[in-house]
Amino acid sequence: MDNVNVKALVLAAGKSSRFKTNKSKLLYSICGQSMIIYSAKLLKNLRISTTFVVGYQAEEIKIAIKKAGINNVDYVHQGVQLGTGHAIASTRKSWNKDNILVMNGDCPLLTEEIVNKLVDSHINSDSVVTFLSSHSLNPDGYGRVMRDGKKISVIEDRNLTEEQRFVTLINSGIYLFKKDFLEQNIDKIKIDPVKGEYYLTDLVKMASDQGLNVKTIPVPYDNIRGVNTLEELWAVEQIKRSQFIKYWMTHGVQFELAQNIHLDWDVKIGVGSYIGTGAHIIKGTKIGKDCTVNAFCIVENSRIGDGSYIHSHSIVQSSKIGDNTHVGPFARLRKGVILKNNVNIGNFVEIKNSEVGNNSSAKHLTYLGDSTIGNNVNIGAGTITCNYDGINKHRTEIKDNVFIGSNNTLVAPITINQGAYTAAGSTITKEVPKDSLAIARSKQENKIDYAAKLKKKKEAKKKDLSSDKNKDKSSKLNFVGAVKTKNMQNL
Ligand code: UD1
Ligand code: CA
Repeated sequence: MDNVNVKALVLAAGKSSRFKTNKSKLLYSICGQSMIIYSAKLLKNLRISTTFVVGYQAEEIKIAIKKAGINNVDYVHQGVQLGTGHAIASTRKSWNKDNILVMNGDCPLLTEEIVNKLVDSHINSDSVVTFLSSHSLNPDGYGRVMRDGKKISVIEDRNLTEEQRFVTLINSGIYLFKKDFLEQNIDKIKIDPVKGEYYLTDLVKMASDQGLNVKTIPVPYDNIRGVNTLEELWAVEQIKRSQFIKYWMTHGVQFELAQNIHLDWDVKIGVGSYIGTGAHIIKGTKIGKDCTVNAFCIVENSRIGDGSYIHSHSIVQSSKIGDNTHVGPFARLRKGVILKNNVNIGNFVEIKNSEVGNNSSAKHLTYLGDSTIGNNVNIGAGTITCNYDGINKHRTEIKDNVFIGSNNTLVAPITINQGAYTAAGSTITKEVPKDSLAIARSKQENKIDYAAKLKKKKEAKKKDLSSDKNKDKSSKLNFVGAVKTKNMQNL
């Protein structure tokens, strides 16, 4: 394969009007990556020098490409979007190779293999244009490839006759042109009176009419699907996601009801792991071997070690979880959380910007914020770190082997030293020394027989009330009777 003599032009200036939103469709995410990045990475991997035609939301598109680590590319600005033919005409100065590869930016399922095939086939032939086509059972919206004897042309969807609508061979929008042919013909494209745009596709007919060789290569429709609407975006993302899921299935990962799982492009999952239905495994996540991420969890930009278990309905964001650790159900690791090995985080526990040491646990109804928790620590149910005083955030330090009783309020900044205990229901405001017990709650007083006396009083009151009610009832009956008589008199 010879990419040295190929220059790529990616069309990315359009307004995306069929999306009915104000955002360029090329900035919409497909499995955690903007649509335009799929073409950009493909060409980078094939080492084809590339120019992007930008116009609508040009800056945002350039930033997205740069953020994806793609720097060795050029941009041409198409001030007004007068169609794909006009877009290519505006790139003329960058036609510095003998073969010009043109690609729509809204074609994210295209593969390197297919582009290689296109390049090979074109370079080894005398065709002035070679383009990819496909049969689609629902060709609406696409330009149709028409053949009439040796003549070949592409007719845009909106220009088709009723009969031509039945043609199922569609134009993919991916072409390789001989530079000379482009130079001689690009200015001959006439504006289409129906849409008021210059159609690049007119070049196919021009070449054919001039008796020049035009070649089309049929490829699977799923590889060249274009994205013009939000519905097509959904369809393309489903295909892309199922490709990733299939890949991980072949690498020893089990998915429960795989059709309901969201997986981003850069996620990594270890052998023997299990992903429950409805889970969202989002960008930047790496899951180790033999893990479970159970149903309806969201794991984003996080690391999970080997043998760990994220129970259902938990949210893990920008956090690092060690080996053999349990989280959830219904837990939230908000960001900057480090859980070491054999940690147990149970239901309704929220943790933020904290580290939890080996073999420690917080199993129920707890908030740990801005804290450092050592090894073998037990955090009792209902414990809250008070990390925020309304202006500043403060840290809580809980050293190794500490036992925090249930329903504790730990007012930061605070340190609980090694081996200490705190009594249930305590509000801890002072440092707790090593190996001590801190009790910080009001003392209990028992009032003997108080409850029994209260009960008697209540019963007496109940009796009084019920005799009052009986009196009320009889007077109400008389009143209703009076109303009835009145109504009948009115008849
Ligand atoms: C185009 C083809 C159609 C083909 C289909 C394949 C033309 C006239 N039609 O139609 O035959 O079946 O792709 O998906 O080419 N763009 C610009 N500048 C413009 C207009 C568009 O850069 O002035 C960009 C868009 O951002 C987009 C690409 O060109 O990435 C294609 O434009 P789009 O409007 O989607 O073309 P289709 O109607 O899909
Ligand atoms: Ca399109």
